Amino acid sequence: MKRVIILGSTGSIGCNAIDVISRLENYSIVGLAAYGNYQRLTEQAKKLRPQAVTIINQKFYKKLNAQMGRALTFSGEGGVREMIDAVKADTLICALASSLGIRGVIQAIEKKMEICLATKEILVNFGHLIMGKVKKLGVRLIPIDSEHSAVYQCLEGRNMNDVLNIILTASGGPFLKKSIRNVRKEEVLRHPVWKMGKKITVDSATMMNKGLEVIEAHHLFDVPANMIQVVIHPEAICHSLVQFKDGTLLAQLSTPDMKLPIQYALTAPHRLPSSTPYLDIARVKSLTFTVPNVRKFPCLRLAYEALEIGKTMPAVVNAANEEAVRLFLEDKIVFSKIAGIIEGVMNKHQPLDGNLDCYLEAISWAKSQAKA
Ligand SMILES: NC(=O)c1ccc[n+]([C@@H]2O[C@H](COP(=O)([O-])OP(=O)(O)OC[C@H]3O[C@@H](n4cnc5c(N)ncnc54)[C@H](OP(=O)(O)O)[C@@H]3O)[C@@H](O)[C@H]2O)c1
Repeated sequence: MKRVIILGSTGSIGCNAIDVISRLENYSIVGLAAYGNYQRLTEQAKKLRPQAVTIINQKFYKKLNAQMGRALTFSGEGGVREMIDAVKADTLICALASSLGIRGVIQAIEKKMEICLATKEILVNFGHLIMGKVKKLGVRLIPIDSEHSAVYQCLEGRNMNDVLNIILTASGGPFLKKSIRNVRKEEVLRHPVWKMGKKITVDSATMMNKGLEVIEAHHLFDVPANMIQVVIHPEAICHSLVQFKDGTLLAQLSTPDMKLPIQYALTAPHRLPSSTPYLDIARVKSLTFTVPNVRKFPCLRLAYEALEIGKTMPAVVNAANEEAVRLFLEDKIVFSKIAGIIEGVMNKHQPLDGNLDCYLEAISWAKSQAKA
């Protein structure tokens, strides 16, 4: 039996993960954590009966605790760590909407748990710290992001010396063929393919999501920025590709459904039946791939620049973006201002290298600058 803790169980990935696990034999959910949606967390806990439940926003702890019966309950960021300590688990799914759970992820790595990672912000902010620990301790970290899952699958059993480049596909978001001037929030939040949380949906519309994925791919597969290419593929059938030095391209194709990469992260290298409808390749009329327009989507360029600069710069870009997206979702800025805010913060930042605290300080500095 594989015992799983899910951080971010109330979100889009978290709910899909619960669905996937409930269909798999020999997997059980032993811990759940969410940020503030204690009602959904309570419903999940009543149904799944995990050993422990954590609500990160302490304001809701009493309400959660009152309904939890025999399950252990924790609160706050520290509560995530307490839960990981208190419960015996084999796998941690991290699907929080920010890198808030970083210390919990580090603790799980130190306990040699297997990590299934959806939260790209963890690698964008702390990639070398995380991957350094993962390698040192021989821990398995498997991406859930569909593009990175695709690359992971294309690279399985291959020699990295044979790789020419990694090609990440992007659907292009809602504004691929439309102007981004004067767009309404509803249009931004209407992604043409994926149903996701609000933050990542805005990031898809600015293409910052792809930029963050470039940085994530750099850390996961240990390749430099110039070996990571992005192509627009609106059909979202081919989830990414790897090109080898002999000219061969390997790709992973499937119906777009996050349940598939979630399941693969849990069962790799085994492939079990899933609830995702099979792709009928004979009915796929066309697959198109084009170069992204970085003038229209400057966030993609900013992410590449941050990766080239390195040190704390990717974390600063991510933090400035988080703050700018929050301001946009709260109707305090218009959509087209997001990239300018991020670039302004980047221009003021002196990149540093150091321990976790150094990165956390840079993140809080960037958030305060983006707000100003
Ligand atoms: N959705 C996708 O298809 C998809 C695909 C690839 C990668 N990802 C990545 O997976 C992660 C989760 O995405 P999602 O779409 O599932 O997000 P989501 O639906 O917005 O929510 C994810 C979880 O994060 C919690 N949360 C809320 N505010 C938070 C905060 N300030 N800091 C940390 N966690 C917070 C939520 O708790 P409450 O419900 O209690 O507020 C929820 O449990 C993101 O890093 C995203 O980039 C998502």
